[in-house]
Amino acid sequence: MQYLKRFFCTAAAVPAVLTVNLCADTSAAVNALVEQMSLEQKIDFIGGHEAFYIRGYADCGIPEIHMADGPVGVRENGASMAYPAAINLAATWDRDLAYATGKAIASEARSKNIHMMLGPGMNIYRMPVCGRNFEYLGEDPYLAGQQAVSYIHGMQNEGVIACAKHFVANNQEFERNHCSSDMDERTLHEIYLPAFKASVIEGGVGSVMTSYNLINGVHASQNAYLIQDVLKGEWGFDGFAVSDWVSTYDGLACAQNGLDLEMPSAEMMNRDTILSALENGTLTESVLNDKIERILSVYERFGLLEHPDISKGYTLDNEFVTETALQAAREGIVLLKNEGQLLPLKADKIHKIAVIGPNGSPAITGGGGSSLVETSTPISVVDAIRKLAGNGIEVTYNPGVFGETILPAGIFEGAKFYHYENGVQKPGVEAAYYAGKELSGEPTGYKVYTNLNLRDADIWGAELPEKDISARYKCCFTPEASGNYVIGVSGDDGYRLFVDGVQALEEWRNQSEREAKYEAYLEAGREYHFELEYYQAGGGASIRMGTMQKPKGMSNEDCLQEALAAAKAADIVVLAVGFNPKTEGEGFDRSYELPYGQGQLIEAVAKENPNCVVVLNAGGNVAMEGWIDGCKGLLHAWYPGSVGNQALAEILFGKTNPSGKLPVSFAYTMEENPCYASYFDTDNDLKVFYREGIFVGYRYWDESETTPRYPFGYGLSYTSFDYAALQTDKTEYSIGEPVEVSLTVSNSGAVNGAEVVEIYVGDTVSSLPRPVKELKGYDRVELNPGETKTVHVTLVPEAFAFYNPETHAWETEPGEFVIYAAASSQDIRGQKIIHLN
Ligand code: BGC
Repeated sequence: MQYLKRFFCTAAAVPAVLTVNLCADTSAAVNALVEQMSLEQKIDFIGGHEAFYIRGYADCGIPEIHMADGPVGVRENGASMAYPAAINLAATWDRDLAYATGKAIASEARSKNIHMMLGPGMNIYRMPVCGRNFEYLGEDPYLAGQQAVSYIHGMQNEGVIACAKHFVANNQEFERNHCSSDMDERTLHEIYLPAFKASVIEGGVGSVMTSYNLINGVHASQNAYLIQDVLKGEWGFDGFAVSDWVSTYDGLACAQNGLDLEMPSAEMMNRDTILSALENGTLTESVLNDKIERILSVYERFGLLEHPDISKGYTLDNEFVTETALQAAREGIVLLKNEGQLLPLKADKIHKIAVIGPNGSPAITGGGGSSLVETSTPISVVDAIRKLAGNGIEVTYNPGVFGETILPAGIFEGAKFYHYENGVQKPGVEAAYYAGKELSGEPTGYKVYTNLNLRDADIWGAELPEKDISARYKCCFTPEASGNYVIGVSGDDGYRLFVDGVQALEEWRNQSEREAKYEAYLEAGREYHFELEYYQAGGGASIRMGTMQKPKGMSNEDCLQEALAAAKAADIVVLAVGFNPKTEGEGFDRSYELPYGQGQLIEAVAKENPNCVVVLNAGGNVAMEGWIDGCKGLLHAWYPGSVGNQALAEILFGKTNPSGKLPVSFAYTMEENPCYASYFDTDNDLKVFYREGIFVGYRYWDESETTPRYPFGYGLSYTSFDYAALQTDKTEYSIGEPVEVSLTVSNSGAVNGAEVVEIYVGDTVSSLPRPVKELKGYDRVELNPGETKTVHVTLVPEAFAFYNPETHAWETEPGEFVIYAAASSQDIRGQKIIHLN
């Protein structure tokens, strides 16, 4: 496709020269559609409606389009299959499986007449605490790009538009709307952009979603450099750029700088901003038309103009859907530790298995936020183990900890709050509202509520705006009985609680609804004063508070004692631990420590019974210092989706041989992580400079000649593999020629297994500092015991290039390169030197 770089001058306050990459070869059919649309229709078209729809104009023959989240299942129109976390898909290192996953998700979307899926996500993993790592594809741009491309092909070949998100550098969740991800140009191009570039150039993705954050000071949704110059210019993207939901800040800037569609509604790119810009010449109609042409051209490419009902005549293959989700977990679960070959479990020698931990039951299918799929009857760890263990093995279950933030049911109703009006006690809670998010100035209004259980219009009502407001809720509470009480609060967005003037909770951040709990001993008959501060930044609003005496059994101590007794009585303990949608998810960063005191739980249980296998649900690494040495087995199971715990049970019993390998490096401690010093916004200036530059993950561990706890690309198997005969087709190449690599891999153990072969490239001498080696190829090979296969990997010319910030281009320097064949980034099994001339 040809692109025009058009320069034009404008009169007014906007930059004098704009570079607009207009899509040049729109079809006659699309042009005709655009011509039929009135100016108002055109403007309305580039703003979504009802959260997940692009407007249709039946009179012009433009269908309404329905989108859904993504990326691990279809989140609209009822229950769907929940697939294992996206990072699990990266851990499979299996392009065919990524293709199948894209296809399977698209098949469900199609059967629900959903035209566009909001995925895959491909933001790079910098730190384990980023709340959305589980939705992405790990730390390496090549691996993320390759898995994303296959997923996109699978999805789009099934007739559903994919969306590569979040463009770009949305690598943390704290202050995601306001924090600028700042970095040098080379880092941006070598680490954060390549997965998107691959999705566009190799994947042919139909749409790209801009991120919430700013990049080098400019919001992604209005970033001309990224959308115009890089995405549409350099990469020739012919699809449309869509904003993330409520991530636009300046309608005109978005329109001028390349955003084609604003979601979930036309909050910024609307008639007010666009019409006046067209009138005063700061925007031309050709730029507006280009947005519509891009969107309609994608419809045309997917046949939606002729057949908008994509569910018509389509039969969903449920078996393929289930088998794909299951296979993803089989291949993505990573065996990290297996001391004394505790695994696979020797079923004939076991009488009792104790499953302990909050993730044992019910099933925790995924992390929280927009990716969490509503799914029917997911399989829990306990049920999956019971099913495979059969009748001869007893399987017990104890949660082991009390899920601290899970508030008791009914806590928000019936709390006997009261307040005073002119010294007279009255029931309910008094509220004072303020303009802005900081409770500053005089209140703009007062209200009284019976209970504090408010959402949306309860809060803003007719008289307040729907965003950028804050409130102080005051009430008193006098317990009838002395005892331990839970004071629970839940809010969207920020809140903080004061009890008798002392701060008890701090959740002051933009976030989707999130619970927090304060526990205290309260005395009967004493009056306690509660003050809850709250702000609403945008989107949905909610604030709730309640209190109740802590029910018996609702403490870690109660739960621990039961778990220890169960552990003692068992032959094997499976510790099902980790995070859940409330503790890891979109809109907030998670803790590095396992929540609810699970670290201490593992330690205590392992002292009772040394035959412990930890099964971890998380989007990445967690604090292991306290407990890892006490456990014999560790399986990283990410999030399993609906059926993935079956794969887990298969791995425990040896019915499936684990073959997943880490798509991220696991440091010993959080502080050792190369991004630690430049991850948090410690000076609160809403800017984070990515100081580690290109040395993210294994690139850092190689450079510093240090070893993480578990390196990138690491994963154990129940068998062993030998690598031999590493070869390249030549030793001298011209720059621009592909390099053909081959080697043999043999299964030298006693059971069937699959091995992921990793091919890295190192540049011996270069004019700019380069990583010791970078992943540029991989393949997964299945082998019977004693079997040998030859693995072929083609290194494309780009595998040898680096981004030169002086010339703003990718360059390859002649000289010596090392090709490494490896079982992990720190387990090199062979190397070969070649020369590029
Ligand atoms: C998320 C996107 C998602 C969108 C629609 C946003 O909050 O960042 O990933 O696709 O919501 O649900």
